Amino acid sequence: MKEQLEQISQWIISSRRIVIFVGAGLSTESGIPDFRSPGGVWDRYDPEDFYFQNFVSSEASREKYWQMATEMYEPMKKARPNLAHLAIAEMERLGKLDCVVTQNIDGLHFKAGNSEDKVIQLHGTAMVVSCLTCGKRYDRDEIQERLRKGVKVPYCDTCGGPLKPATISFGQSMPERETQEAYHRSSLSDLFIVIGSSLVVQPAASMPLLAKRNGAKLVIINRDPTPYDDMADLVIHGQAGPIMDSILKEIKKGMDNP
Ligand code: APR
Repeated sequence: MKEQLEQISQWIISSRRIVIFVGAGLSTESGIPDFRSPGGVWDRYDPEDFYFQNFVSSEASREKYWQMATEMYEPMKKARPNLAHLAIAEMERLGKLDCVVTQNIDGLHFKAGNSEDKVIQLHGTAMVVSCLTCGKRYDRDEIQERLRKGVKVPYCDTCGGPLKPATISFGQSMPERETQEAYHRSSLSDLFIVIGSSLVVQPAASMPLLAKRNGAKLVIINRDPTPYDDMADLVIHGQAGPIMDSILKEIKKGMDNP
């Protein structure tokens, strides 16, 4: 392990365009369950109930969606960034981060200190609610307060359209600008580091491939094996927090004694 951490740190020090691509595994040490691990979100909920078409199709589907979304929001609201989030924010301060491409909707990168222009939220955010008809945006807590006071399904104050957390559901079109930006940055990267993702959900999971095909070194840090482990230049199976914290220490050591 020590050699691998030293190798990754050397690559980080010598690289110029580092993209960090993350998934739900980055936030499990912050108390937010991931999706596909035992006890994960898809163990407790049926993904079908989260399909966008269901949400727009009926009042009953929207009510069920908001019940589930409220249960999922509580741990996110309380969550604190962990060692891995903090290491990524520190890499930005050290000038060693081109951008973070995140599939996460928990906003923990910002709580850790990453700046808005360095984080590409591919699957949107759970911290904002938007109207599907007029696009008006609401603070999540304001809408949660309405639900706590008995509203079953919230609607827009302006146009009466259905409100939904500003996350990208299965069957919903990806955010144009963010997706194009993420593809662009991935294709230009010289070091692409995946942290905490099973790499099974498209189009996000095609970005490590794109980076590798364009000459980037590919590193995967994930507790369980992924479908891309064989094509990676270096793979570590373990907990993201302590691993990223060790890598950060190695980077600082290397930058202090070039
Ligand atoms: N450290 C490292 N890896 C971890 C940790 C940890 N502390 N905890 C979990 N993992 C790994 C798991 O082994 C798993 O392979 O993180 C991965 C999380 O995979 P998923 O649950 O599939 O999450 P993700 O890849 O982000 O899912 C992609 O699917 O359900 C949709 O929209 C949702 O954005 C999500 C997308």
